[in-house]
Amino acid sequence: MPQKTNRAWKLVARPTGLFKPTDFAWVEEPVPDLADGQVLVRQILLSLDPTNRGWANATPTYLPPIPLGSVMRGLGVGVVEASRHAGFAPGDHVQGLLGWQTYSVGDGRGLTRFERVPGVPLEAYPAVFGHIGATAYFGLLEVGRAKAGETLVVSGAAGAVGSLVGQIGKIVGCRVVGIAGTDEKCRWLTGELGFDAAVNYKAGPLMPRLRQQCPSGIDVHFENVGGEVLDAALALINLRARVVLCGLIAQYADAVPPPGPRYLGNLLIRRARMEGFIVLDYAARFGEAFTALGAWMADGRLRYRVDVVDGLEQAPVAVNRLFEGANTGKLIVKVSDEPAG
Ligand SMILES: NC(=O)c1ccc[n+]([C@@H]2O[C@H](COP(=O)([O-])OP(=O)(O)OC[C@H]3O[C@@H](n4cnc5c(N)ncnc54)[C@H](OP(=O)(O)O)[C@@H]3O)[C@@H](O)[C@H]2O)c1
Repeated sequence: MPQKTNRAWKLVARPTGLFKPTDFAWVEEPVPDLADGQVLVRQILLSLDPTNRGWANATPTYLPPIPLGSVMRGLGVGVVEASRHAGFAPGDHVQGLLGWQTYSVGDGRGLTRFERVPGVPLEAYPAVFGHIGATAYFGLLEVGRAKAGETLVVSGAAGAVGSLVGQIGKIVGCRVVGIAGTDEKCRWLTGELGFDAAVNYKAGPLMPRLRQQCPSGIDVHFENVGGEVLDAALALINLRARVVLCGLIAQYADAVPPPGPRYLGNLLIRRARMEGFIVLDYAARFGEAFTALGAWMADGRLRYRVDVVDGLEQAPVAVNRLFEGANTGKLIVKVSDEPAG
């Protein structure tokens, strides 16, 4: 068999601000032969995530920094092409930290096999049946403890996590208000996705317009953004509200954190709970989330949208779409073709 070539982006500089193409180097290297216990995966879909930016910093996040000169870390979906590992066979579909590259060789740690469900496109796995769906599901229902009749506000609402959070909120009976950065995104939320209201945070002062859409205040706030958006929401929280700190994308590219929210005092006087979480803490229970999400998708109550960029070469530029608000739904790079059949 001719030797395969791995094409990869290596991280070669610590970014300041948004990623720049010069933070990465393109390399083409032969794929090594497999040793006993190893598995070779060809990546099909690479997930681009806001957390990629934090991973590239010199300071640790919930994972250690990516060493300079190594392949850029990234989650992806792929197919096993060869295996000398008892747990994987050629043709298996897997998800995991496949990196910004076409081929990865590893000992199977961090890889999860999954069965393709007939009729479910492969892109649904990074968009729903992976870290994104689990974040929305456990973040809203376990951390946020959202209940019927409550008002839920979600920021970054037209993004991958936010669009699922709002729909799950509707399924459990909340009044759902989304915050997003364009009128078109807001129309998608209140139209196709069935949110009760959506507010464009770029179209004027947010707090008065959010207050108008939350006449009974906010019981659960699901935060994906931080900064002024979190500030506006904290001003409106109710007694015993829950504030789910899922992400702070507004500050991931800042060298110095922005001044804190002004309404933290409301957490105190309203006996509210603000709780950060990392979806990895729920890894043992992902199956539970995927069963529920799959059932909701099958009966038409849960939809997703993907924003697909063609070609691994595009990744360093495409990742910034997340920070510019240029994506709607899950941002994915198509790295290679799905196996035939
Ligand atoms: N805690 C966890 O375990 C966990 C797991 C997964 C994701 N997350 C976090 O969840 C959040 C959403 O992730 P995602 O993958 O679903 O990304 P996403 O929402 O699909 O994409 C990011 C979106 O954030 C908005 N945004 C970017 N910069 C902004 C700014 N300065 N102010 C306000 N909005 C801004 C943009 O939409 P607009 O057009 O609306 O501005 C953009 O489309 C991120 O903060 C991510 O880090 C956390």
